[in-house]
Amino acid sequence: MTKSRIPVFLLMGSMIVFSACYYDNKKEMYGSSVTCDTSNVNYTSVIKPLIDQNCIGCHGSSATVSLQTYDLVKAQTLAGKIEGTMNESGTYSLMPPGGKLSSCKLGQVNKWIRNGMPL
Ligand code: HEC
Repeated sequence: MTKSRIPVFLLMGSMIVFSACYYDNKKEMYGSSVTCDTSNVNYTSVIKPLIDQNCIGCHGSSATVSLQTYDLVKAQTLAGKIEGTMNESGTYSLMPPGGKLSSCKLGQVNKWIRNGMPL
């Protein structure tokens, strides 16, 4: 009984993810190297491009809060600051300040964190 339900939930889950991603991609008219695929989210191919595109302009190597390297991003993540700022939770200011990332990108970041921040 429970066994046969699992694939249905997986299917529904992936349908929601894919439809959300399709919407986001359509919305962003500029070319992006960041895909909305949340199946294999790692730092090198997904998170770093996302940060380069949305954060690094203000968080380069000389910034007070630098997000230039994996270790720096990991430290901010472990402190709860990446999730806090991106979701504007608690006392954190929204990052990026100009407007929340798309739900797909937030989903990718959340997945990456839940998976233990793979490089
Ligand atoms: C337009 C500039 C700008 C952009 C783009 C931007 N930030 Fe920020 N961010 C700031 C400023 C200013 C601060 C205040 C701290 C400081 O002096 O650097 C800050 C602070 C932070 C902090 C520290 C928060 C705290 O309370 O300790 C984090 C984490 C952060 N940003 C993450 C991000 C992430 C992740 C992105 C991209 C998704 C991003 N920021 C994009 C300007 C920016």
